[in-house]
Amino acid sequence: MITIRPFQDSDAPALIAVFHRAVHELATRAYGPEQIAVWSELCPTPEQLCEIMNDGRVTFVATNENDEPVGFTDVEADGHIRFLYASPDIAGTGQVQTLYDALETKAMELGIGKLYCEASELAKSFMLKQGFSVVERRDFELRGVPIHNYAVEKRLRPRT
Ligand SMILES: CC(C)(COP(=O)(O)OP(=O)(O)OC[C@H]1O[C@@H](n2cnc3c(N)ncnc32)[C@H](O)[C@@H]1OP(=O)(O)O)[C@@H](O)C(=O)NCCC(=O)NCCS
Repeated sequence: MITIRPFQDSDAPALIAVFHRAVHELATRAYGPEQIAVWSELCPTPEQLCEIMNDGRVTFVATNENDEPVGFTDVEADGHIRFLYASPDIAGTGQVQTLYDALETKAMELGIGKLYCEASELAKSFMLKQGFSVVERRDFELRGVPIHNYAVEKRLRPRT
């Protein structure tokens, strides 16, 4: 089982490893080798990841029984989710649900009215199960390589 806690700087190397395993071992189901290569190059350095995760957004790190990071996500003040990555050790097991539930609960507490992100094929599939809708498919190029994702969003009901 996983536990959810906020990001701490010492997580950065492990989360970068999670990012790469997620892209290279999971996303290959939906994206080709060139797409995987350019996506992988987008991974922040540990310093960049610390800067992003400490910029005021709310962060969530999933750790396993050995306290090792196995997934992470975040939400910005306007409801934008930048990261949603899971280690292949937990992907497909239902445990990412716990990570997402923590995010949605916090977003509701903060009065965020809408969650949104640019979701990969895999994230889109996961997000649709969370009640998100697809706004549009986005086709673009990354370093000359055609790739796509989906703008997805979910309206949150304000707490009364
Ligand atoms: C997005 C992610 C966190 C979702 O978590 P999850 O536990 O895999 O979620 P789900 O079990 O709902 O699976 C979502 C899709 O991922 C794929 N998937 C899940 N487990 C997989 C596995 N072990 N091997 C290959 N693909 C897998 C499937 O295509 C699945 O879609 P389906 O259920 O319609 O077949 C995770 O798949 C991930 O880290 N993916 C790679 C990185 C990524 O795309 N991040 C989003 C960036 S926008």
